[in-house]
Amino acid sequence: MAESSNRPVLVVDFGAQYAQLIARRVREAQVYSEVVPHTTPVAELVERDPAAIVLSGGPSSVYEPGAPQVDPKLFDLDIPVFGICYGFQAMAGALGGTVEHTGTREYGRTELGVQHSGGLLHEELPANHPVWMSHGDCVTKAPEGFTVTATSEGAPVAAFEHPERRFAGVQYHPEVGHSPHGQEVLRRFLHEIAGIRPQWTTSSIVDDQVARIREQVGDGKAICGLSGGVDSAVAAALVQRAIGDRLTCVFVDHGLLRAGERAQVERDFVAATGVKLVTVDARERFLDALRGVTDPEQKRKIIGREFIRVFEQAERDLKAEGDYQFLVQGTLYPDVVESGGGAGAANIKSHHNVGGLPEDLQFKLVEPLRSLFKDEVRRVGTELGLPETIVQRQPFPGPGLGIRIIGEVTQERLDILRKADAIAREELTTAGLDRQIWQCPVVLLADVRSVGVQGDGRTYGHPVVLRPVSSEDAMTADWTRLPYDVLERISTRITNEVAEVNRVVLDVTSKPPGTIEWE
Ligand code: XMP
Repeated sequence: MAESSNRPVLVVDFGAQYAQLIARRVREAQVYSEVVPHTTPVAELVERDPAAIVLSGGPSSVYEPGAPQVDPKLFDLDIPVFGICYGFQAMAGALGGTVEHTGTREYGRTELGVQHSGGLLHEELPANHPVWMSHGDCVTKAPEGFTVTATSEGAPVAAFEHPERRFAGVQYHPEVGHSPHGQEVLRRFLHEIAGIRPQWTTSSIVDDQVARIREQVGDGKAICGLSGGVDSAVAAALVQRAIGDRLTCVFVDHGLLRAGERAQVERDFVAATGVKLVTVDARERFLDALRGVTDPEQKRKIIGREFIRVFEQAERDLKAEGDYQFLVQGTLYPDVVESGGGAGAANIKSHHNVGGLPEDLQFKLVEPLRSLFKDEVRRVGTELGLPETIVQRQPFPGPGLGIRIIGEVTQERLDILRKADAIAREELTTAGLDRQIWQCPVVLLADVRSVGVQGDGRTYGHPVVLRPVSSEDAMTADWTRLPYDVLERISTRITNEVAEVNRVVLDVTSKPPGTIEWE
């Protein structure tokens, strides 16, 4: 998978979820990177013609039986290598240094002492600065020819380098935010020690992908389903840039969207890209299919099934008009890695996205975001002129408001939830909190009625739940401590403006144990 003319930095994944984050940080230093499993033979690594190799951290102790090892041949290839945490120890071991089980462990924030003016990696950084450690074993003697450039209380060799051979490593985790100089250290390895030119920029990504799409599609025609989300919008915009009106976008309105979302696609996205768009109004059909259904998993299945049927019909209609051979999908790099592109990474997300490839319609896939991380996708979207409301859109589940109504989904309930949700979003945006929260589902407890007093009489209205969460990746999350005055405004406005709601409650559960969505 040669995704770019940029030679990749290959991040060897020793497990434990660090590799993807390292790959992202490498790209932040404007160097293209990919994750590969630690089982990849050296010959295969060489075939990829890497600009450098980064050995990631991992959960094992180098002493454990079956612990992944580094093939010493890797160090005879004149390829720059950077070892991190476990990768640092494995590198030290393979090159003849000493790794020991000293009994001193370091977890979390640790003071790093810079030695020998820091060498190339830590040059000009403060003589003492905090880093994030997580290790039981440590390197007690660096391999021959290496300079030790940092130590910590529990790690006599906390960093080493051999600039002539273009090798370096650190015991700590430079990729995490708790190592405030970590990005600089990684950057120095890539630019100063490995000598890689920073060329992976947003405009280079766009040029590169546009050229690839043109090459793949030739003078063919393509279809792209738009969900209203960032990924499909950016994928479509890239393909539109490449092949113009030989792309047709399809947007299915399943009636479970939030206020204003259809207009955002039909008006704003079309205005920004000039894309050809077909909207399918399937609101009735989804309501019919969901009638009487209260079980969340069943709702998800029905919505997924109906969506595929409607989308397939739209594809058939288009195919009847012209020869569409290509289908555009907004698959991202983490999906590729997590679904086996990198065997070392634990399979954490079993994602339930609406959509899918119909079996009887032979399409070739165009996946212009296959090598990109989410933050890169957003930057590409901005570069292509998409509005901020689309590019910075928070995640919204495919089954939409259907899984935020606890109980049966009806038109009336959708209208209630849409109003409450719009108010919450508007107030959060006005308060400037969009960047702090990952998303804030508003959930309608449609089967619950609580007593209220409004005006002169008692009411039996529904409660809505606010579920503001902060997260990096939706796998874990914490509830966002929203300012009381913002909560107050949201609550007052919802209970005043949405007659059927007489109570607003706040969900203060982290994930785990609670999921982000209620259903
Ligand atoms: P949970 O509720 O599992 O959600 O903590 C994690 C993230 O996934 C989104 N989500 C979904 N997205 N289809 C989707 O496309 C779904 O069925 C679905 N369920 C949850 C959720 O909004 C959050 O961002």
